[in-house]
Amino acid sequence: MRLLVCGAAGFIGSTFARQRLLEEGDEVTVLDKLTYAGREENLQDIAERPGFRFLRGAIEDAAAVAGAIEAGRPEAIVNFAAETHVDRSIAEPDAFVATHALGTYVLLEAAREHGLRYLQVSTDEVYGSIEDGTFSEDSPLRPSSPYSATKAGADLLVASYFHTYGLEALVCRGSNNYGPYQYPEKLIPLMILNALHGDALPVYGDGLQVRNWIHSTDFSRAIGHVLAHGVAGEVYNAGGPDEEPNIAIVQRIVELTGADRAQIEHVADRPGHDRRYSLSSEKVRALGWEPRVRLAEGLDETVAWYRDNSWWWEPIRSGDYRAYYERQYGRALR
Ligand code: NAD
Ligand code: TYD
Repeated sequence: MRLLVCGAAGFIGSTFARQRLLEEGDEVTVLDKLTYAGREENLQDIAERPGFRFLRGAIEDAAAVAGAIEAGRPEAIVNFAAETHVDRSIAEPDAFVATHALGTYVLLEAAREHGLRYLQVSTDEVYGSIEDGTFSEDSPLRPSSPYSATKAGADLLVASYFHTYGLEALVCRGSNNYGPYQYPEKLIPLMILNALHGDALPVYGDGLQVRNWIHSTDFSRAIGHVLAHGVAGEVYNAGGPDEEPNIAIVQRIVELTGADRAQIEHVADRPGHDRRYSLSSEKVRALGWEPRVRLAEGLDETVAWYRDNSWWWEPIRSGDYRAYYERQYGRALR
């Protein structure tokens, strides 16, 4: 297939682009704004491969989107482009609204004009928090942060383009991803790098919030399955095989890195913090997908990847991320 993959200089999009190019033989055109989270380094191992093309541009920029479609002549658009960090959405929601609402609209219009299949990458956070049981695709949307609320808005706009214009549009909602190339503002890479550097490990509140973890390669394959076999107009959940409270993840990272347990610090809780996420994935499993990576093994490999790839995180940890960290956590990194 020829694909336009938006936001593929980020964590999951780069994993998906690599998978499609190397395992499926697709042609991949990337359109990415290169925000703080988007890095060409994430794609450097495939940048010279035939069939790969990188264009810098924003999804809310109709001219940039038109240029990417002209260059790549895609049969489908897969949209990963997003602002993705809940804490940043609480501090500065503006970019979340622009990228998720306006950006998704511009891409949908382009898909409509060119008759392209369209897949929106979304999140379990649109359902809000669940005490017991799991969310299905029919669960009501009750997002709680500016991040999840704007993602939910984008999902609804996608649905409207199917109902109103007959656009071949689908949504795939994933649970919390982890794996190589994840920006260190997120729980797992933040804790790994802090553990390796002797920094404090800041656990929000009691640390008993539960997340449903999926490896980024598994979520990427789920998106591929939905793209190939999903029914237009439908939503598909892709949840990981394991759920863990945050504190258990942090304790395991301490063991795997040989850090000191005394580095763990309970800090002020996130405002409006969702207690638990959990997704049922029966519908995407019926398309032939299942997760391959269990958390125990995936976390071990992820710790090893960060330990072995300081070339990737050193420029982040010595750049703007330091200032972000000080603003967010009220203390400097070592
Ligand atoms: P990320 O923050 O690592 O990367 C986001 C990418 O989008 C970056 O390359 C950035 O430059 C690009 N981008 C941002 N705004 C853009 C714009 N306006 N125009 C073009 N490019 C833009 O994010 P990620 O963790 O890889 O998440 C990718 C997608 O998966 C998002 O839609 C997110 O909501 C969804 N998702 C993420 C998770 C998770 O745990 N990380 C879970 C479920 C769903
Ligand atoms: P995060 O990786 O930000 O993902 P999300 O909020 O989208 O689930 O956070 C995962 C969990 O870890 C969440 O419950 C918040 C918690 N957390 C901490 O306890 N400390 C931290 O420094 C961070 C970044 C997250």
